[in-house]
Amino acid sequence: MITGKIVGLGSYLPPKIMTNDDLAQIVETNDEWITERTGIKRRHVADGIEDKSSTMACKAAKAAVEDAGIDPTEIDLIVVASTTPDLVFPELSVCVQGAVGASENCACFDVNSACPGFIAAYNTAQGFIESGNSKCALVIGAECLTNYVDWEDRGTCILFGDGAGCAVLKATEVDASEKNSFIMRSSLSRGTCLHCENMKQPKRFEEEGFLKSTNMFMAGRDVFRFVVTEIPQLVEDLSNKYGFDINDVDHFVFHQANLRIIEATAKKLQIPLEKFPLTIADTGNISSASIPVLLTQMKKEGQLKKGDKIVMSSFGGGLTWGANYFVF
Ligand code: UT7
Repeated sequence: MITGKIVGLGSYLPPKIMTNDDLAQIVETNDEWITERTGIKRRHVADGIEDKSSTMACKAAKAAVEDAGIDPTEIDLIVVASTTPDLVFPELSVCVQGAVGASENCACFDVNSACPGFIAAYNTAQGFIESGNSKCALVIGAECLTNYVDWEDRGTCILFGDGAGCAVLKATEVDASEKNSFIMRSSLSRGTCLHCENMKQPKRFEEEGFLKSTNMFMAGRDVFRFVVTEIPQLVEDLSNKYGFDINDVDHFVFHQANLRIIEATAKKLQIPLEKFPLTIADTGNISSASIPVLLTQMKKEGQLKKGDKIVMSSFGGGLTWGANYFVF
């Protein structure tokens, strides 16, 4: 059977860094609280000029194409996941097409599934590849969350950062045991704990304090409870559905939202924490970019070997949550 194998990875994080001490100048917080409750020490922040979701997506894609060593004209599909695109159109994927030098025979579209956006984009690209409609795809997560956070809300603004990551998938003949396996779930009724309106809703000018209404709202404790209940369950459901033993998995590549969430999940699944690679201290939560940025770091550090078994999982606004099992 055919599956998309990751043959290249690249990421981009904007150079401006905001530390916990920098945040303490803006809201009433401190490094000790943020570190203890989240594991975050610093986050990268886009300047909105050189670095926006579109330009960061292009930079990550270029790095991944170079890493894969492919001819850009081979690329026949680009899917970008973003909750925070700076452009309504052209789509970020079309910006990437131009930046990497892909041909016009390349399908381009964007998806939004909040933080699990990379999982949605990855599974969509795998669908194209498995059905014979793509041989070489770029899958990207690109986000500028710092545009949307409420900088007066210390419970949320400390969590988020900006960045982009990209994986190059190539159609490869594999044994059935190496196929891409996944479960994706969603719940509007449970989504009230995490909500964000688009920046440019027409009614914004009629409302007093309109800027406030366009910012992200998050009931952190509710999100935390949802995640530490649903994500371990999802991973168990995935292993039961596709018949793999979670103890045989080499890496749990999880959305980097909070170190305590990862620790609680590892504990519930009875998997050693060492199997959960981390970027959280340096990136904070970069939504759909967090998994490809983490995969890129793992590759650079020599942690990824051909044949490694990987579970990736993410959760976020919607609510939406998903998990994949694949062989690297
Ligand atoms: O991609 C998915 C996106 N979202 C998430 O993953 C969020 C999941 N939730 C979380 O990560 C955690 O709930 C937070 C890190 C957001 C908050 O941690 P917590 O342990 O749930 O704290 P809390 O909201 O229960 O607040 C505890 C206390 C409160 O003070 P009181 O009421 O006990 O006096 C807060 O006002 O900590 C206070 N607090 C802060 N103190 C210093 C809240 N934020 C801060 C802060 N600095 N930044």
